[in-house]
Amino acid sequence: MSEIRRPFHQFTPDDDRIWSMLWDHQIANCQRHACRLWLDGLHTLGLQRERIPDFDALSRRLYDRVGWELVSTDVVYSDGQTWFEHLARRQFLVTEYIRSEDELLYTPLPDIWHDTFGHLPLMADQQYADYIERFAHIALRYTPDERKSLGSLWWYTIEFGFLIEDGDMKALGAGLMSSPGELEHALSDTVEKTPFSIAAFEGISPSPHQMHTRLFILDSIEQLKTSAPQWVAYHDSLTAHNAV
Ligand SMILES: [Fe+2]
Repeated sequence: MSEIRRPFHQFTPDDDRIWSMLWDHQIANCQRHACRLWLDGLHTLGLQRERIPDFDALSRRLYDRVGWELVSTDVVYSDGQTWFEHLARRQFLVTEYIRSEDELLYTPLPDIWHDTFGHLPLMADQQYADYIERFAHIALRYTPDERKSLGSLWWYTIEFGFLIEDGDMKALGAGLMSSPGELEHALSDTVEKTPFSIAAFEGISPSPHQMHTRLFILDSIEQLKTSAPQWVAYHDSLTAHNAV
């Protein structure tokens, strides 16, 4: 490959200590509330409590398994276009930053803990990874303005979605896995959990700086995989209707 890559950031023993504290805060919650896909992926990737992983090795493991690579970025909040362009090339961006000790329970910034512990276990599943690639190709067909509600679909499924598994509600979203505060809050009665609906995303714009008041439950992982194409059909029909 001719592309010049940033080397992966070398995290310090202090960073590893924060990682271990986050692991201790969250692993039991995830073992209890996470969906099977995420739990299986955590095992498959061999993530460990003691240290932030070696990303060269982790990228090779992901590539061998699902054909995706990890790419380092120093941008804390990648803009949607850059993010989707990488995803469409089967490249998952990982940050060079870990939250501070006083932000253990919640941070609005997607740090290396969120990227790795939240997202990557799910990316170890071929069908899930294929769906993310498909989502990115769909996103790139629209302008940022046109795809605002597609961003909400991402937010309320990939980041903060729940799904039904064997009759129980399980956490699917990476933001739920990586945030002890968010997961506890999301599971509480103060957050309304409603059945997944494509139509709902046209009217809401989530904020990473506010705790949720409403989240969505997919009826299965299969419903997730059809949701982005379903968004296209729904969104395009609205646009066509408005153009008449
Ligand atoms: Fe994320």
